[in-house]
Amino acid sequence: MSNKTKTGRYQRIFRQIEGLIGATRSPWSRMSTIVALLHHKMPDFFWTGFYYLDNGDLVVGPYQGPVACLKLKKNTGVCWTGINEKRSLIVPDVEKFPGHIACSSLSKSEIVVPVYNKTGKILAVLDVDSKKLNAFDEIDQRELEKIVALIYEPSST
Ligand code: SME
Repeated sequence: MSNKTKTGRYQRIFRQIEGLIGATRSPWSRMSTIVALLHHKMPDFFWTGFYYLDNGDLVVGPYQGPVACLKLKKNTGVCWTGINEKRSLIVPDVEKFPGHIACSSLSKSEIVVPVYNKTGKILAVLDVDSKKLNAFDEIDQRELEKIVALIYEPSST
């Protein structure tokens, strides 16, 4: 997919999510809607979901794709790094990421994007895995950061 095609696709998904999420402020409904849309509209998304902080644990939230680890070993792997360093991470080859947690041996590359509430507290990460090496770039990062920012947007309801 060209950069232009990919950006256009993300922008259409963004507008669709924006239109849908106004129905409720529930972050769970919004996260579920986001993963459903992303997973089915982005061709290389093999596992798409959220891990959220629950009393100091990082546990799985809404997701689509094969069954994944319910709880991630503390301060280990890509998702925990995103939480601890409060930043998005693009991992072109998961086998080269020290401590990577392989929920599926089919996952080859990964992107993690933090989710913040309106006071700037980090609550979760969006995690997307691909069966292809090097599937994610700065366009994915920028567009996914814009999409997860919608989770705690005030709605018109
Ligand atoms: N690979 C992640 C764990 C979650 S699965 O990819 C769904 C990690 O290293 O944190």
